[in-house]
Amino acid sequence: DWSVSSFIEDQVAAIRRQVGNGRVLCALSGGVDSSVAAALVHRAVGDRLTCVFVNHGLLRQGEAEQVQRAFGQAMGMNLVYVDASRRFLEKLTGVTDPEEKRKIIGHEFIRVFEEEARKLGRVDFLVQGTLYPDVIESGTETAAVIKSHHNVGGLPEDMELELIEPLRLLFKDEVRRVGEELGLPEEIVWRQPFPGPGLAIRILGEVTPEKLEILRQADAIVTEEIRRAGLYREIWQSFAVLPSMKSVGVMGDERTYAYPIVLRAVTSDDAMTADWARLPYDLLERISSRIVNEVRHINRVVYDITSKPPATIEWE
Ligand code: XMP
Repeated sequence: DWSVSSFIEDQVAAIRRQVGNGRVLCALSGGVDSSVAAALVHRAVGDRLTCVFVNHGLLRQGEAEQVQRAFGQAMGMNLVYVDASRRFLEKLTGVTDPEEKRKIIGHEFIRVFEEEARKLGRVDFLVQGTLYPDVIESGTETAAVIKSHHNVGGLPEDMELELIEPLRLLFKDEVRRVGEELGLPEEIVWRQPFPGPGLAIRILGEVTPEKLEILRQADAIVTEEIRRAGLYREIWQSFAVLPSMKSVGVMGDERTYAYPIVLRAVTSDDAMTADWARLPYDLLERISSRIVNEVRHINRVVYDITSKPPATIEWE
């Protein structure tokens, strides 16, 4: 039988042995895997771990502050916070193709991360939140590389750091239990998956500061209402998408011509297949009327009732 506390004890001892007097680096995204891996390594080596959190300007409302609070203030971790929003947004100007966006964000992320790593001087190890399914999916060594690509938080190839992967024998539910035992906040331990390129692939077409602001507000309402309905954990992912089209509406005596928000909520076990969530009508009603009333430039909300396949979870 697998016990959380003895797992933590064993890993802390193993990490201490591996690291010795070395210095450890971690790219923290705020996602469950990297967060739990970082917390575990922090318990083992304390100040010899430095985490770098890159804000690419494509995060959701309050996300950057939440990560700083949980790891900086609450845990007292060495946390380097980099606000690189301007840089990413400039690089994304005029770009509409989804894969092109991903490529730009991935490259820029590695560049920023490398710059920060260099400032730290000598570093010997890199923490990765690789899980067991990532390992079996892609056959040992390549796993971390593949995963880091997909998650954007890639490791610079020429840095030649030794990997620390304390979660490589765990499944997601076990990782969550470890996170809880380590005292990470609920909002991090139970966070739904969020793509590395962030809101950039939920704004269809070009990413602009105005569209980011609209989507952030709509997305915050979706998350708040899903949580309030007690459905946040059982739904795999729930979020808002902003298409680049407008439709006619009416508000007071005035005709409006504004964007719709697409609401996407799916159930899934592993994101390979997914089913659209049968959300209660009254919840759909609350989300719709709040978004239209509270978010400027939105006059309509539609619900995506397509499963995967043939659709994907994201719209880009
Ligand atoms: P799709 O849209 O392909 O998504 O059904 C499957 C899962 O992967 C996430 N996703 C990404 N994650 N970088 C990521 O780190 C990406 O470029 C990316 N694209 C999709 C998506 O949120 C879902 O959980």
